[in-house]
Amino acid sequence: MKFAQLLLNGAKSNIPKQVDRFSKFSPSPLSMKQFLDFGSANACEKTSFVFLRQELPVRLANIMKEIDFLPDKLLRTPSLQMLHSWYATSLMELVDFLERDPDDKKVLKKFTETLVNVRNRHNNVVPTMAQGVLEYKEAFGVDPVTNQNVQYFLDRFYMSRISTRMLMNQHSLIFDGSANPAHPKHIGSIDPVCDVVEVIQDAYETSKMLCEQYYMTSPEMEIKQVNSKSPDQPLHIVYVPSHLYHMLFELFKNAMRATVETHEDSLTLPPVKVRVSLGGEDLTIKMSDKGGGVPLRKIERLFSYMYSTAPSPVIDEARNAPLAGFGYGLPISRLYAKYFQGDLQLYSMEGYGTSAVIYLKALSSESIERLPVFNKSALRHYQTTTEADDWCIPSKEPKKLGKYEFSV
Ligand SMILES: Nc1ncnc2c1ncn2[C@@H]1O[C@H](COP(=O)(O)OP(=O)(O)OP(=O)(O)O)[C@@H](O)[C@H]1O
Ligand SMILES: [Mg+2]
Repeated sequence: MKFAQLLLNGAKSNIPKQVDRFSKFSPSPLSMKQFLDFGSANACEKTSFVFLRQELPVRLANIMKEIDFLPDKLLRTPSLQMLHSWYATSLMELVDFLERDPDDKKVLKKFTETLVNVRNRHNNVVPTMAQGVLEYKEAFGVDPVTNQNVQYFLDRFYMSRISTRMLMNQHSLIFDGSANPAHPKHIGSIDPVCDVVEVIQDAYETSKMLCEQYYMTSPEMEIKQVNSKSPDQPLHIVYVPSHLYHMLFELFKNAMRATVETHEDSLTLPPVKVRVSLGGEDLTIKMSDKGGGVPLRKIERLFSYMYSTAPSPVIDEARNAPLAGFGYGLPISRLYAKYFQGDLQLYSMEGYGTSAVIYLKALSSESIERLPVFNKSALRHYQTTTEADDWCIPSKEPKKLGKYEFSV
């Protein structure tokens, strides 16, 4: 056997050991304030390096432990095999820095390069995972237990990915030596004075453009804002504008599609109404459309990765993003909202329209990463078996009641 092959096999056999080693640690959630401190004037690349070379392997190893609990047949799909190899390679590349000297400038430079490589390697994780799930679903169907496990796993898997990308982006943006000329006040990807209304307008404009390409028409937007603390001031929060934009863009695409499709035969389209309110605790954005709504029974399913109704889109980066793709718009947007302790909820009136509400923390001191950890509780989730439901299933044929029997 060649030496290189021996080395490779050696590294491979070392992977489960490293996963075990690092998954024994819990991830350390960072607050928005800590993110800002890492990037402030006296930011220290060495401190950030020492933190990340431990924290990134911990986050990767924690989620890699959970990958093993997916159904075997899903794990064996080529997509999942590829995903697993990306995670293993990245873990080993990062672990390699543990013994390196933090005072050596060359080491710091190499680390930043490695982060960029890792980030690029993982660019297609979401469509690749979606492809695997789709293949599994088409071959073996969906049962409620698998759906529940896959849903639980994917929410945690994608959340973990959002968090590791955030860490890698912050380090590489702050320490690659080139300030962002377009946004000199940004700290990495964070805007300390993120103008919420401006982001809403940007997301609306892009979605409107897409909508017009598809349908030759698009609804207007009406926006109203309330700043309970200082009524004349614009609504600012400390936030990652790209995350907020992502959520709003997804919601606008959905609202526009529903509006246009339910009003195909009318001459005018009802506008999409957006309300923004900043309170003491929450910054709330509510987007309401008159796009016909969704029955209550189906609402939970809209957030499901396995029950998505959308046909599988072709993965082609050169192609325009479609108005409806994998059906991951809502679940992934909800994860972005939850990442900094917010939420995204949908309220709908079938026959009329839908309101989507994004809740974010108004105070940066409360915006703290929400991270999955692999422990006994997580394990219990994967070990649920099919149990009989503890609510009666209504029979289709109503039971015939005697003349004086009473039904409630
Ligand atoms: N405002 C809305 N009004 C009516 N139906 C909606 C609305 N928002 C979402 N839906 C329904 O929920 C489904 C899931 O939405 P989601 O954004 O998650 O996926 P998608 O739009 O199908 O695809 P993707 O967003 O990944 O491109 C949509 O296909 C649509 O049927
Ligand atoms: Mg969508």
